[in-house]
Amino acid sequence: MRRFGVIALAALVAGVGCQKKSEGPSAAPAAQPAANPQAEAGSVVIAHVTSLTGDTATFGEGSNNGVKLAIDEANAAGGVKGHKITLQVYDTAGKPEETATAATRAITEAKATLIIGELGSSRTLALAPIADTNKIPAISPASTNPKITKDGDKTRPYMFRVCFIDPFQGTVMAKFARQNLKVGRAAIVRDVGNDYSVGLADYFAKTFKELGGEIVVDVSYKGGDQDFKAQLTKVKFAKPDFVYIPGYYTDVALLGRQARELGLKAQLGGGDGWDSSKLYEIAQGALDGGFFTNHYSADNPSPVVQGFAKKYEAAYHSKPDAFAALGYDAAKLAVDAMNRATDLTPTAIRDAIEKTSGMQGVTGTIRLDADHNPVKSAVIIGIEKNAPKYVTTVEP
Ligand code: PHE
Repeated sequence: MRRFGVIALAALVAGVGCQKKSEGPSAAPAAQPAANPQAEAGSVVIAHVTSLTGDTATFGEGSNNGVKLAIDEANAAGGVKGHKITLQVYDTAGKPEETATAATRAITEAKATLIIGELGSSRTLALAPIADTNKIPAISPASTNPKITKDGDKTRPYMFRVCFIDPFQGTVMAKFARQNLKVGRAAIVRDVGNDYSVGLADYFAKTFKELGGEIVVDVSYKGGDQDFKAQLTKVKFAKPDFVYIPGYYTDVALLGRQARELGLKAQLGGGDGWDSSKLYEIAQGALDGGFFTNHYSADNPSPVVQGFAKKYEAAYHSKPDAFAALGYDAAKLAVDAMNRATDLTPTAIRDAIEKTSGMQGVTGTIRLDADHNPVKSAVIIGIEKNAPKYVTTVEP
């Protein structure tokens, strides 16, 4: 069993050093008693529960960089209600069980007032009941499955997100394939062990068929598999023009390579699980000509995106991916809600998050609907010469 690394980042906070900053002018009570040895007395603890290791480690790293950037900025501007924010990071290794343990530790040991996390839908689904039961608000940067914020027909009171959801993402790609690429015959390759992949495959299929397209074959794999030849041979025999693979980048890149080895020439498509530099490293051109939906493109010329990219590059010497932008937006929403809340108790912060109606984020303006989901646009990214290229933005 892997052990969790609790990384205290309080020391990274700009300019404050070891000085206490608990004597703010505000009458707000100290958020939580500092039973947490790593937090400064009087500081508010935000826990980031994310995959710093495992097969989506690049996503966790991007998200964590984004979260840190937003919290450093908030602290440099005086913190919230006179309290400094302490960020504590818990590694989930990209696993649901470890996410549950990390969330519990964030609440009981770190006395977190708010959790940011997780990225992957299956993991955030393990975190959601813990946030609700303990009445600690949680904001997922990137989990797009509808069940994250909705338990049956009930909205989960403490769960929120800053990304769009999969019924929208699946529809965007189905329409693009059908209407722009003029695809008639599509195949689906889904990861059956992943709520995100299964949901997205279903939403894509539904819209694609409604638009008159045909799903000629629908095959399954399990995340982490290495050999996809049996499934891909089936796909090849069904003669699709387009293969939809709503998986995570490591599997997708391998799938793409093996598809080409088998002589499958169809165009490939997917969702936000593709957005990693590792995708291109592993695929080595096998995904060229393909498209995926995403939350944001670093090529977007908007001043908000370019301003963020500049700050991010100065801090981390790399280009921010969508997970970096979403991590930043999740932390910004947390800080924004803390500033608007009547006090710094988790319940008051929850109430303030729920009322968010126009926070300017890097990935768009965040307005939360009744189900705690933002109403936001998606972008379509094309792959050319083994590199991502912004194609278009699709409004909800
Ligand atoms: N939207 C994806 C999900 O909900 C985001 C993601 C993809 C996260 C891949 C981690 C890895 O699962």
